[in-house]
Amino acid sequence: MTKTFYITTAIDYVNGQPHLGHAYEKVVTDVISRARRSLGQPVFFLTGLDEHGQKVQQAAVAEGKTPQAYCDDLASDWIAFTKTLQLTNQDFVRTSQPRHKAVVQAILAKLHREGHFYQSEYRGFYSARQETFLTEKDRRPDGTFDPMYGEVTELVENNYYFRLGAHQQWLIDHIEANPDFIKPAYRRNEVLGFLKNNTLEDLCITRPAARLSWGIPLPFDPDYVTYVWFDALVNYITVPAALGDPLLAAALPELKLPSVEKPQSLWPADIHVIGKDILKFHAVYWPIMLKAIGLPLPGQILAHGWWQKDGEKISKSTGNIIDPIAVINDWGLDAFRFYVTRELDIGPDGNWTDAGFASRYGAELANGLGNLVNRSLSMLKRYRGGVVPSQNDELAAGTAEAVCKIAGHWDKSELQDALTTTWSVVKRANEYIEQTAPFKLAKDPAQAARLDEVLYNLTETCRILAVLIQPFLPQTSLRIMAQLNLPGQADQLAEAKWGGIPPGHVVGDPLPLFPRRDQPPVTKA
Ligand code: MSP
Repeated sequence: MTKTFYITTAIDYVNGQPHLGHAYEKVVTDVISRARRSLGQPVFFLTGLDEHGQKVQQAAVAEGKTPQAYCDDLASDWIAFTKTLQLTNQDFVRTSQPRHKAVVQAILAKLHREGHFYQSEYRGFYSARQETFLTEKDRRPDGTFDPMYGEVTELVENNYYFRLGAHQQWLIDHIEANPDFIKPAYRRNEVLGFLKNNTLEDLCITRPAARLSWGIPLPFDPDYVTYVWFDALVNYITVPAALGDPLLAAALPELKLPSVEKPQSLWPADIHVIGKDILKFHAVYWPIMLKAIGLPLPGQILAHGWWQKDGEKISKSTGNIIDPIAVINDWGLDAFRFYVTRELDIGPDGNWTDAGFASRYGAELANGLGNLVNRSLSMLKRYRGGVVPSQNDELAAGTAEAVCKIAGHWDKSELQDALTTTWSVVKRANEYIEQTAPFKLAKDPAQAARLDEVLYNLTETCRILAVLIQPFLPQTSLRIMAQLNLPGQADQLAEAKWGGIPPGHVVGDPLPLFPRRDQPPVTKA
């Protein structure tokens, strides 16, 4: 059984509306997935929802619903959102699903049996909003806690703890030996610095059921439910387990899930795409959990930065928000996918500005790619009745070089670099139109052969661009293929080989890909 490339996003908290940050992470992961498939790899892309916890329980009660009914209602919006973004995820995991509960409970039973947990009394501070315990160290100089924690209460309770002490050194060694395990490098250094300068405190993995009932019950103690983060991280192996992954079946032999006809080999995940704020959970707790379960670690934790708008934190309360659905309705999905991946490299924080969005739309999409395809096909129609002339290779070498570079960028999840290189092909082809001036050649019958050459180079470049943009701009790629009157999805990079458009082929009608616009984007619903 060959292993499939397995990539995941963080699972979003169900109790909120999808915003730019969620959309960005999902688009980035989708682009990486599509690029890998285009490189010829089988890919499994997983996203989903994090549904347990106190906040959800409280919100459900406030609406007079059961937590499950409350989550089901919201989940349909989130699933619709994956469609709006045209994500190519193969599954959508929800932590309230029975399959997930079964995996979490099998893990808890195993780790408990093997002595990884102990019970102890906790006395201290608790933030319900962040669902986290706080210590004296979390107090600000004036003695208060950061408002992000909401109301902080003092409490004494008995809980189960996961022993982490024995795990610190091997984790440091693993991170040091595997430079790609945490990307980008500065995030890796952050985690290493933390692990080398602190002693890991044992992780509290339960909440008393008396206080919180909306969670996964401990299989060995009905008075407790599982801590949301322990529960949520397991989602990454829930789906492989449900698909009959042999590594999961071996690690959790007592797990009883419906048997599958064609088991898939997914684990270990190749990339977990997450935001910088949840790095510690993924780069410290998750590897330790996996090691304790007896499973190999993921290949890479890829941590992206956070978006701001106009240099300020995105916040509902101040109204500083971007509604991705409003932007997509107004400007089209591909314009949105393009802006977020072109503007922000994976790693640093980004700043959304409406003017920046409009400017990239105008310069790179409308005047760049759109203009190139429209001019090329219009000239082929006008001067040659839409019939592709015989092959000419004037732009072949430069294009091949770019394709090769792009393959490397795709392979390393360097999305911004891939787009920059793709747009160097767009720029070169637009310059070629200016330099060769086909509109002048067309007026001189003696230049007919030269005009044929130019038109072939332009048409073939448009076809190759449909392949190169496919992971990022899937709709535009299909529209270029339709205008070229070519079958297929342009979803294999191997098709970006020069000479693919057959001479004598008749192209379709050119239509503007990105209508010119003067007004800034609508960013709020
Ligand atoms: N439920 C947890 C994740 C559990 S993963 C096992 C969670 N959910 S979240 O809804 O708060 O965030 C989901 C993802 O969106 C996180 O990776 C987070 O970093 C990302 N973003 C949330 N706001 C963001 C921005 N403003 N900008 C970019 N990404 C941001 O955390």
